[in-house]
Amino acid sequence: MCGIVGYLGDRNVYEVLINGLKRLEYRGYDSAGLALVAPGGEIKIYKSKGKVSNLEAYCSGKDLTSRVGIAHTRWATHGEPSDCNAHPHYSEDGNLALVHNGTIENYQLLKEALQQHGCKFHTETDTEVLVQLVEHIRVTNNCTTLEALQAALKQVIGAFAVAVVEKNNPDMVLAARRSSPLVIGIGDGEYFLGSDGTPFVEYTSKVVYVKDDEIAVMERNKPLKLVNLDNVEKKIDVKKLQLSIAQLEKGGYPHFMLKEIFEQPITMRDCIRGRVVEGGSRVILNGVMDNKDKFLNCNRIIIVACGTSWHAALLGKQLIQDMCRIPVEVEYASEFRYSHPVITDRDVVIAVSQSGETADTLAAIQIARSKGAFVYGVSNVVGASIPRETDSGTYIHVGPEIGVASTKAFTGQVLVFTMIALSVAQYKGTLTTEQVKAVGEYLMRIPQLVKETLKLNDKIRNLSLIYTYARNFLYLGRGYSYPVALEGALKLKEISYIHAEGYPAAEMKHGPIALIDSEMPTVIVAPKDHLYEKIVSNVQQVKSRGGSIIAIVTKGDTTIRELADHVLEVPSVPECLTPLITSIPLQLLSYYIAINKGKDVDMPRNLAKSVTVE
Ligand code: G6P
Repeated sequence: MCGIVGYLGDRNVYEVLINGLKRLEYRGYDSAGLALVAPGGEIKIYKSKGKVSNLEAYCSGKDLTSRVGIAHTRWATHGEPSDCNAHPHYSEDGNLALVHNGTIENYQLLKEALQQHGCKFHTETDTEVLVQLVEHIRVTNNCTTLEALQAALKQVIGAFAVAVVEKNNPDMVLAARRSSPLVIGIGDGEYFLGSDGTPFVEYTSKVVYVKDDEIAVMERNKPLKLVNLDNVEKKIDVKKLQLSIAQLEKGGYPHFMLKEIFEQPITMRDCIRGRVVEGGSRVILNGVMDNKDKFLNCNRIIIVACGTSWHAALLGKQLIQDMCRIPVEVEYASEFRYSHPVITDRDVVIAVSQSGETADTLAAIQIARSKGAFVYGVSNVVGASIPRETDSGTYIHVGPEIGVASTKAFTGQVLVFTMIALSVAQYKGTLTTEQVKAVGEYLMRIPQLVKETLKLNDKIRNLSLIYTYARNFLYLGRGYSYPVALEGALKLKEISYIHAEGYPAAEMKHGPIALIDSEMPTVIVAPKDHLYEKIVSNVQQVKSRGGSIIAIVTKGDTTIRELADHVLEVPSVPECLTPLITSIPLQLLSYYIAINKGKDVDMPRNLAKSVTVE
């Protein structure tokens, strides 16, 4: 949610910034801008509504000479997307320029106080308030910008990652954070800055993750300095960035989303590698093994997450309950944090987040920890806030996911939940070694079976043409297929903007059945499982009301084939593994429908990949 880039060094600053912004566009793309500090100190600001390519076009032909710069790609919170509201924002005297990711909750109060001191505002943003506040403190107290930033951030309530450049001090970039991500890249005589490491992966792998309420001071020819808001120097912990450029490119696919769908046989293999061993009869997750007492002695498990991760959490609940016989609750992190939750030190809280930065999930973790619960993270991004804020956890190891609509991260999360359930079950004795093996063996075959499932691609592309102009869709499933239906519906609405509802198939008769007619396609996820006969009845109910049906069925199914308009056959796997297979055709269906409609699947309107605001 908003991407920040910064650079101080001898390269072409503009190029570093603009290419960095393109990498961070997944975080927001309604407007973009950059501030370049010219060698004499003058700050030039270029901003443009729309994607980074608009900014690039706007900058073309301009004098972009500079040695230092900051840049921003925006996901609007305060004020509509416009040239004016785009970042960077600057102080009225033109001394400071600032970019910001997050929200300043008390900006109205701060603004009113500044207005009383004669400050004038030109945008609707909370960010302009912050830059004016810093400069106001600097001028009135005759202090350094660092001191002014420290004082200003003490007054700010909310989440932020900010970067500041100064006309009076042109060889310096200051960057600070609270609850929003910020990474410094250290090169040879140069500094990079990013909301994550993607903007500078080709230049350096030495990174420092800035912590909450720390300010990084980057000055030419000086070592990096980290201080807190009380100016106490903090230890610099240099880490290795685990990322490669190839992972950030489309690799011949027209879109990241399609690449990521097709990568799943590999990402799933990476996810289980070294974890499902001994021919599938043993599952080793270090995070679970090192903390098995917590899992074995807990009263219950609460899983918190948002969006697609919440759907993976619903599957996690079924897997853990089925295999471990531990009660599990699933909560939206955004609801959990304000629900005055009853949590004790006998609870295990599992936080699931692809990005590892989702603000609501982070807040939920903090609450759970403050009440003494053991908090376990399931995340994709190594070094992100959630893995750092949790007691232990498991990475899904599916590589960077760039498409805003999550695909390979979802299947990675479901795989990790499957492995958590199997490993706890083997310690708890709720599954025998043979039972673990029966699932584990299949788990090892899943990447190959997903590859087979992807052969449905052409069929789904053709099928999608029939349904491109449907205005509503219903997605139904039962048991393990219910969260798959929810996720299928979410995928479709995220990228094609078609209204789609996911529902437990049996609940259809309590409402959604009223919507069914020849105009309303229903997607039914109906693999052969213990609820198969039940869902056949649901298929009949839709059919007898004139609805058209696309069914995801197990290979060889003849019953549903008779009833449905279209069937997509997937390989047979144990019931608990069906989501890993049945979700694949739904990803492809939503992709092709969106493509047929000419939508930008990688950057759907209004969405962002990493949601670092409430
Ligand atoms: C956004 C993304 C979704 C994602 C959700 C939760 O809404 O567009 O794809 O599922 O955030 O993100 P997380 O990083 O916590 O999994």
